[in-house]
Amino acid sequence: MKTEVISTVKREDAGTTIGAELIQNGELVAFPTETVYGLGANGFDGEAVNRIFEAKGRPNDNPLILHIAKKSDVKDLWAHVPKIANTLMDTFWPGPLTMIFNKADEVPYEVTAGLETVAVRMPSDKTARLLIQKSGVPIAAPSANRSGRPSPTTAKHVLDDMDGRIPLILDGGPCKYGVESTVLSLVGEPTILRPGAITREMLEAVIGPVRLAPSILAPLGEREVAASPGMKYKHYAPDAEVRVIEGEPKPAAKRIRALYYEYESEGKRVAILGTDQTMPSYRNLSAYSLGDRSEPETLCANLFTLLRDVGAHNDVILAEGVDTRETGLAFMNRLLRAAGFQRETV
Ligand code: TXA
Ligand code: MG
Repeated sequence: MKTEVISTVKREDAGTTIGAELIQNGELVAFPTETVYGLGANGFDGEAVNRIFEAKGRPNDNPLILHIAKKSDVKDLWAHVPKIANTLMDTFWPGPLTMIFNKADEVPYEVTAGLETVAVRMPSDKTARLLIQKSGVPIAAPSANRSGRPSPTTAKHVLDDMDGRIPLILDGGPCKYGVESTVLSLVGEPTILRPGAITREMLEAVIGPVRLAPSILAPLGEREVAASPGMKYKHYAPDAEVRVIEGEPKPAAKRIRALYYEYESEGKRVAILGTDQTMPSYRNLSAYSLGDRSEPETLCANLFTLLRDVGAHNDVILAEGVDTRETGLAFMNRLLRAAGFQRETV
């Protein structure tokens, strides 16, 4: 299959019209959102949805998010709309917040991986919204990477992973946030399953206490399934091994330098992911800045691109950990998973 790339940066019409036709015909279309690129299919068509799992190599017990273009469309997807969801929609939609609630009968189990709940979000990206509107159906879409790889934040990343596997990529330029949406379950007490740009602090300001799933900064089920040691959760993994060093910037940088020389002496290709504040400590070493430590949004926006680019040319990446307040939590959640939880604190 030939993969076509159509830019929607200057004009959205042509690309989104072709994309919507493909979606209606049960085909897959990769498209930009404000978080990461998605790999979309008609969310009411179970067979089309199955193609997503095939193209990504995604385990079929991992449910998908349905993307809608107007708030009222959620009524067709959920059994009913809880009051708290209305408040959250009015505050945060369109935008990087996904909400999970009991599914309506019409939602196929291919989307929910057999669960009785379904995740829904309304993206703010213009191309995404036009594509959904013109398709006339909710679009089921995971991130458009091969399963296990860092999520794509440019059309080039999507092409690197999906060339020959899908007919169309809409290129809307680099994604604004660079990490996936916040996933909030409204089944029972509001609980963040995956942190994102809509932070716990922002949610609590609107609806009161919000819980964090224990797996956010620890391997999935570490506490629950300590009995099953073979289980290693791999996600966002670049081609290189990643190690995270946490602590105050100065001692962390010192430890990273020491590790760097160790790996180098073993003949390994090693690189550092640091921050603006610590870059002077890495002079003459192969080091890249993720941005200003005090702006975790910037660190998020650069993370997946650097993991892909730096990972492609190195055996080992040494990365600095940062504070987990606000968007720092989303950053650390992705970084620790990319590292398979290889972490130390100095
Ligand atoms: O920003 C985003 O959310 C991007 C863009 C494309 O919208 N999409 C995305 O999808 O990140 P994906 O499939 O890579 O991640 C969806 C996450 C997964 O962790 C999945 O397990 C969880 O949401 N999820 C989806 N439906 C769920 C459900 N019913 N119950 C629990 N978790 C669910
Ligand atoms: Mg994903």
